[in-house]
Amino acid sequence: MCGIVGYIGHRDAYPIVLKGLQRLEYRGYDSAGIALYNDGELKVSKTKGKVADLKAKIESENNTAGTLALGHTRWATHGVPNDVNSHPHMSNSGNLVIIHNGIIENYESLKKELKARGYTFESDTDTEVLVNLIEDVSKKENVRLGKAVQIALNQTVGAYAIAVFDKTKPNEIVVARLGSPLAIGVGEEEFFIASDASPFIEFTSNAIYLEDGEMAVVRRHKGVKVRKIKDDQLVDPYVQELQMNLEQIEKSNFDHFMLKEIYEQPSAITDTYRGRLLVNEGIIRMAGVDDNLERFLNARRIVIVACGTSWHAGLVAEYIFEDLARIPVEVEYASEFRYRNPIINSDDVVIAISQSGETADTMAAIKLAKEKGAFVFGVCNVVGSSISRETNAGAYTHAGPEIGVASTKAFTTQITVLTLIALKLAKAKGNISNTDFHMHLRELEMIPHKIEVALEANEHIKEVAFKYKDARNCLYLGRGYNFPVALEGALKLKEISYIHAEGYPAAEMKHGPIALIDENMPVVVIATRKGHYEKVVSNIQEIKSRSGKIIGIVTEGDTSVRDLADYVIEVPDTIESLTPLVTTIPLQLLSYHIAVMLGKNVDQPRNLAKSVTVE
Ligand code: M6R
Repeated sequence: MCGIVGYIGHRDAYPIVLKGLQRLEYRGYDSAGIALYNDGELKVSKTKGKVADLKAKIESENNTAGTLALGHTRWATHGVPNDVNSHPHMSNSGNLVIIHNGIIENYESLKKELKARGYTFESDTDTEVLVNLIEDVSKKENVRLGKAVQIALNQTVGAYAIAVFDKTKPNEIVVARLGSPLAIGVGEEEFFIASDASPFIEFTSNAIYLEDGEMAVVRRHKGVKVRKIKDDQLVDPYVQELQMNLEQIEKSNFDHFMLKEIYEQPSAITDTYRGRLLVNEGIIRMAGVDDNLERFLNARRIVIVACGTSWHAGLVAEYIFEDLARIPVEVEYASEFRYRNPIINSDDVVIAISQSGETADTMAAIKLAKEKGAFVFGVCNVVGSSISRETNAGAYTHAGPEIGVASTKAFTTQITVLTLIALKLAKAKGNISNTDFHMHLRELEMIPHKIEVALEANEHIKEVAFKYKDARNCLYLGRGYNFPVALEGALKLKEISYIHAEGYPAAEMKHGPIALIDENMPVVVIATRKGHYEKVVSNIQEIKSRSGKIIGIVTEGDTSVRDLADYVIEVPDTIESLTPLVTTIPLQLLSYHIAVMLGKNVDQPRNLAKSVTVE
């Protein structure tokens, strides 16, 4: 939920850490801070607000010299967003400084003990407790910082990615992780620390991703020493070559990351199926599934766990798996699944879907499923993320970095991966004819082009957005494969424009929501030709008779809905199971334009963060 950045080396640390915070701001953006060490002096600047506010503050005070720095961008958990609760936090002596992403759950009891020992606290945060605990341990045990961090962390319960240094020993930073991501960029006598690799991509392509339960002492001239926090065992760190490039994490000519990511969908989906979808050979190759084919084929059922948009992708997958592969599927909110003592057997396959691969609830659901003996398969975007490592096997979506908080290309690439798996299993189980299988492969291959065509409606969608931008409520309706798309469309609108929106299966209208319809209610109806078309047209009639305003998402050339609707937005025709990949596009653009017209912060909507690493 927060972003952490650090630098130790021979360059000016401030611009590196500041830029890093700007790149990580998607992780949290209610306050920010930087601690900069220079020549025996430690300067900590922090402020409520964005990284831009922090920059203005630091540069007006001319506080920018030094080759060692830690920075933090916050999504508040303990304590309201204000200057005092912002990170970095210092220990009582003023020597130790820490940044933290996560939650120390037993901080209250630790705080009580520390208070009894004379420690005082300025903030309401769990992090200030941790830095003082580390100080207390180092004094009591008379040990170096690394050891003190290790002993202190063994007394904590919770999740963390931390970086801490001691201003009296400014040649090292100590880092540790449990449940929150932490990468160390390895350069020539310089090291970078960050929640993901984006802050250091232009300086090095070598990175060490700490595993859960590991810590490292990073020394300016001596390199990185990694060990297990619990049993002190030394670990040989694996230095990974990064695949990311600078262009992927910049906005290019787009006004917002969200818009860039919407437009990236044709290429993202092509990257998702590249090397997997072999149309001419008539095969689907996916190592994670191929290597575990028996587990999938013998699965009594598939349980999908995910949150938010990824959960919606799971709902689409439920239709595809049941329809094509004839395997029973249950789709669960990870946050509910983990707390309700679910019945999971060793012949269940659990599929965990997560763009970030760091969502705390999804991670907890995976651990629970594994404990119960299930085989857990991950569908993640971020390579090397916690979920991708915790699962027994998996498939990456290869969508490239998604920075806008509102998920777009993650959704369509997740559906693409899940469709490939469903088709593969359908074929292996003999539940799909050769002709049908080949037709699906060919159609899937054409989806990127069809999305390009759907994107051409952008200017028209802007007009629709202008017309409905002042609505206070909005309904989204769809049936079958497009019911989850309706949910996703509603989520997109509410999260970036703050307009109340609900998604429903179109036929459920008459069981309650129809009471909401009047001349002020825009209703977005997905009414493509494939999939219960006539039924949806009847549902549109019902809305029309109650004066609702209808925005139809229709197949190219449709005339029936056009006659009834106030506006229609056309998408190219495709087979029913793939319609979500094209119908989603206008819904993403509609919410984007409404949010822009309302002057909202599209990429960083209020109260949200990109990776939800707290429960
Ligand atoms: O990284 P994940 O896919 O696990 O994230 C799950 C949700 O937090 C995420 O999809 C969220 O709902 C998005 N803001 C939706 O746009």
